[in-house]
Formats: sequence, structure tokens, C-alpha cells
Amino acid sequence: MKIIGTGSAIPSKVVTNEMLASFLDTNDEWITTRTGIKTRRLRSTETLVDLAVSASRSAIESANIQPDEIDFCICSNVANNYVTPALSCIVQQHIGSHAPCFDLNGACAGFLDAMSVAEALLKTNRAKNILIVCAEEPSRFCNWKRRETSILFGDGAGAVVVTKGNDLKSLRLTTVPNRDVIVYQRRMENTPFEVPGVDITEPLIMNGREVFRMAVESSQRDLRLVIEEAGLTPDKIDLYLLHQANQRIIKSIQEHLAQPAYKFPTNIERMGNTSSASIPILIDELYSSGKLKKGDMLALSAFGAGFVTGAAVLRWSK
Ligand code: UT7
Repeated sequence: MKIIGTGSAIPSKVVTNEMLASFLDTNDEWITTRTGIKTRRLRSTETLVDLAVSASRSAIESANIQPDEIDFCICSNVANNYVTPALSCIVQQHIGSHAPCFDLNGACAGFLDAMSVAEALLKTNRAKNILIVCAEEPSRFCNWKRRETSILFGDGAGAVVVTKGNDLKSLRLTTVPNRDVIVYQRRMENTPFEVPGVDITEPLIMNGREVFRMAVESSQRDLRLVIEEAGLTPDKIDLYLLHQANQRIIKSIQEHLAQPAYKFPTNIERMGNTSSASIPILIDELYSSGKLKKGDMLALSAFGAGFVTGAAVLRWSK
């Protein structure tokens, strides 16, 4: 596999910590020191479909191909207001592609899941050019009366086009089943046979401290394993592109790996946690600003509800 195109789209609305402090019992100092987040982008006039389509179009343009040359489309999404059809079908209708497509929900690690599926499709000759689009609106499953979760997230979409190649050096996915550490239950229609109280739905609930602990432990373990599997050592990695969940999580992983801070680019301070879109948005930002050089060795790592994790080592050749 190799990445031949990148794209991203973020909402126009910039929401500062001060804006949140106007209706939540929180403040800029707490949010900045505990998370590193200063602003996030939240949907206001745009829909998630708008963001997903825009990121996909940019990635296809960046790949120098036409939409009808996409022969598979994978969309990573945790939740959106379309239960069916899949978001990937709606995106394809807008961009003019008729490729087979499906959505996957790998929580915040969905980009790594999509890369894993894409690699299998490429290796078995089922596709030549695959669009991966990670489109997320976590702001819509937070309880906006609760400061513990609503300050963390941002909305956005990141996309890549991948094709055959030898850039993916290693990839690892894991699951440690744990329903409670991060959970969001969506409301569904009641049937006349529903026993009241059986199906309780509630906005996002998270055990932040436990997620923090699991994130640091699993990410640094996964990174060591994929780096070793790629025949490298942590020193040989040029950039670590980590899921943007908390600046302190990123710093802690950096310290565990004994690597310099400059190898860990971030957008958490501007974007908040954009779930599975965070790594592809970061990749697009770095590529667009000339910060990815041909031959750079990248280590990717993400974690999320499940509890799921994913990590990979990828050579950059675009
Ligand atoms: O993609 C995966 C998604 N989730 C994550 O990555 C979350 C990982 N975890 C974290 O990022 C951190 O655990 C948080 C940022 C969520 C919380 O930071 P923390 O340092 O673990 O704080 P805490 O939960 O231990 O809470 C410390 C205090 C509590 O008050 P008391 O009990 O000490 O009086 C909280 O009620 O901070 C309080 N607090 C807040 N105060 C001001 C919690 N949220 C806020 C807030 N503003 N927004």
C-alpha cells in the first residue's frame, strides 16, 4: 500500500475554551493544562456529509485521479444521523463514484482499521485505488451539560487515497473488550413490545482517567511492536502521528519511547479530538505544509472505545 492523495475538511466555526466556559463550569486554564486544547471546530452550518465529501474530493484531486478511478471506498465513522444508508454510499453519490463501499466503526482507531482492510483488498487484487474517508462529529454525542466530555471533542473529516505499493511496513490492531470505559448509546424507535427501562440510552459517558491509562500503555506497546516488526528502532522513526486525544497522552507516549518532542506533530490544540479523523487530518496538514518528506518513516497509533487500538509503520513516498 502507499498513500497517493490526502485531503481534509473542518467546520468553519471555531469554538474557544472561553466560549465553553460561558455555559459550563470550566475555564481555559483547566482545559489547556489538562488537555492541551485551546480551540476546536464544531459543525454549525455544515453537515458531516459536506465535510466528508469535501475531504474526499481533495484527496482524489491530490491523487491526480478521477472519481471513477476509485474502485473501493471505506468510510470510518462512529455515529452520524444516517443509520442507513452508509455514509460511504452518500459520499460516493456526491463525488460521482460507483465503487463498492462500506462504513466501519473502529471508534477513534478507525483509520488504522480502514488501512488494514484496504491493504487486504489491494493484496488480493480486489481494488487498485481505495478512498478512505474518516468523518466524525463527536460533538453530537456529548452531553453538553457535562464538562468532563464536551470540552474534548471537535468535528472534521480526513481522507486519503491509497494504491498498491510497499510503503506499509507493519500494522497491528488489538481489542481488549470493555463496554464501560467509553460508551454512547443512540436512541432508537420503541416497538409496542418494548419493556420500559430495558433499553436505556444516554450521551457519551467516559472514564477519562482509565482511558488515559489504557491509551498510554497500549500505544507505547503497539508502537514498539510495529516498529520492531518493521525492522526498525524508535530512533529511526521520523514522525510519530498519534491519535489527537490529549496533549498529555502524546507527551507521555513520547517520554516512554524516549524520543524528542519535535517528532510528535499535533493539531489537538486547534482541533480537539476529532476521533478517527484526527490522524488523516494531521497527515493532510503536514503534507500540505511541506512537512512530510519523501522517504520519511512514519509511526501511527490510535486507540478508542472498545477498547480498541491500532498502530502502523508507513514510509512516506508522495
Ligand atoms: O479518543 C478517546 C477519547 N477519550 C480520551 O482520550 C480521554 C482520556 N482522558 C483524558 O484526556 C483526561 O482524563 C481528561 C481530560 C478527560 C480529564 O483529565 P484528568 O486530569 O484525568 O482529570 P480528572 O478526570 O481526574 O478530574 C480532575 C478534576 C475533577 O474534580 P475533583 O473531583 O478533583 O474536584 C473533575 O470534576 O477536574 C474536574 N473536571 C473539570 N474541571 C474543570 C473535569 N472536567 C473539567 C472541566 N473543567 N472541563
